[in-house]
Amino acid sequence: MDEAARHALIDKAERTHRLAEAELAALLADDGATDELAAAADRVRRAFVGDEVHLRGLIEFSSYCRQNCLYCGLRRDNKNAQRYRLSPEEIVALAEKAKAAGYPTVVMQSGEDAWFTAERLAAIVRDVKRLGLTVTLSVGERMTDEYRVLREAGADRFLLRIETTDRALYERLDPGMSHEDRIRCLADLKRLGYEVGTGCLVGLPGQTAEMLARDVLFFRSIDADMVGIGPLVPNGETPLGDERPGDMRLVRRMVAAIRLLLPEANIPATTAMETLSPGARELMLRSGANVMMPNVTEGEARQKYALYPGKACVADTPEHCRACMEGRIRAMGRTVGKGPGGRMRKNRK
Ligand code: 5AD
Ligand code: SF4
Ligand code: FES
Repeated sequence: MDEAARHALIDKAERTHRLAEAELAALLADDGATDELAAAADRVRRAFVGDEVHLRGLIEFSSYCRQNCLYCGLRRDNKNAQRYRLSPEEIVALAEKAKAAGYPTVVMQSGEDAWFTAERLAAIVRDVKRLGLTVTLSVGERMTDEYRVLREAGADRFLLRIETTDRALYERLDPGMSHEDRIRCLADLKRLGYEVGTGCLVGLPGQTAEMLARDVLFFRSIDADMVGIGPLVPNGETPLGDERPGDMRLVRRMVAAIRLLLPEANIPATTAMETLSPGARELMLRSGANVMMPNVTEGEARQKYALYPGKACVADTPEHCRACMEGRIRAMGRTVGKGPGGRMRKNRK
């Protein structure tokens, strides 16, 4: 794309927060647009969600998964995966530590582990809510009634990435899962009053700029409260082990495009980004992102929750990461978020 066309599109996105699919795809395909897109997204981030970086304490509580996603180390066919399941008491104890560390929100994440029935999870959610924390669940696909039980137990937010909105690609990479089910889950969650986070992987084999543009427009169409994306980090224990890692400049254009089109959304700088490119979290926080999710999982579980290899911070302690992140945020001239850091609603009815 020539300089003038590129500038006109980015300017339009910054002013109107709208782009057509073809316009978005052209920007996403254009490596030369990266810095200008990121700078525009950084301005929109500041205007809409401010300088606070919200921290969410991530508790990875089970590495069992009944699904078989081709990219993921927790897939059921990975016989080398190290499986563990924290007890409800251990999960609540980690939440207490997260609270003591000053994190207002915990994200309870696991593979799709049937041991954690909705009733068991609901009991844990109730205990964690008694601590006064905001609770985000990231436990995959469930029946509508289960989502309802968890919401009634006090869960505030739910993360479920669409992974890719391209039906054929999704169903190829997530065998046995269906695009319709994924959409049903996200619609249920919205209807039940959760703040809903979704997102996609960047760099999947066969994924195009047009598909990524449709992903961004999808996030906008469901009014996603949070959008978490990350590069594919090839995992040698999976069928996608020999694929190329996701392109970090494309990831950066995606973060920026998401901020431009969903100006109020919470957008994390994710661990997968940092894993592929040290310093990427800060770069993404300057390109539209406003959230980080420090891992508060301790001990062996911290190593065993291996979606992909080389995960940033696995060898560090939660205490170390707490201090490290705060220092990095301040060094950027930003502040650590106070309060739950829910989705902002500005200029809306
Ligand atoms: N590389 C990057 N991200 C991955 N995820 C799973 N496997 C990988 C991988 N190899 C992501 C998926 C899932 C989230 C919890 O982790 O997008 O939704
Ligand atoms: Fe299971 Fe999620 Fe990994 Fe898929 S991405 S195998 S659902 S943990
Ligand atoms: Fe974990 Fe810096 S955030 S070591």
